[in-house]
Amino acid sequence: MKRISLVIASLLAVSALTFSLSRNLAFAGDDVPEDFKVKGDPDEGIFIYKQYCKKCHGKKGDGTGTMAADLVIKPANFTEVEKMSKVTDRELYIGVRDGGPAIGKSEKMTPWKDVLEEQEIYDVISYIKLFWADE
Ligand code: HEC
Repeated sequence: MKRISLVIASLLAVSALTFSLSRNLAFAGDDVPEDFKVKGDPDEGIFIYKQYCKKCHGKKGDGTGTMAADLVIKPANFTEVEKMSKVTDRELYIGVRDGGPAIGKSEKMTPWKDVLEEQEIYDVISYIKLFWADE
């Protein structure tokens, strides 16, 4: 009897854990509307980029920062205009806020929501967009 309750208890614990994990992944970014648009100031964003992003994504945004060499999955190259033009503001925002895995990318792209203010996330995205777009 004791053994059975132990088995049941562990099964419950495992399913609770699986549920909370899948919830976190599956629902990351669910709060962000499909047509979400970033309104940031690139002139502010450049300072954030230099401080936090440049070491991986590179001064010129081409993904060759000083830390890039150690990464198996290389940082996104923002100068690939064709590829980056297809990425929506929503995806950029969720990726920067919640980290790479939230948009199916490398976990080495860490979440920035605990480091940057909401507006700072918009500002840095507005800055990186200059690497592939004119606006
Ligand atoms: C430790 C290295 C590292 C740092 C620091 C870093 N990134 Fe990344 N970034 C990555 C990697 C690795 C990827 C994922 C590439 C892949 O999976 O193809 C990525 C992906 C991204 C993407 C997704 C691009 C796409 O193709 O959709 C965006 C946007 C991005 N980073 C922005 C930023 C911003 C903004 C910062 C600074 C706040 C930053 N990154 C800091 C390594 C880094």
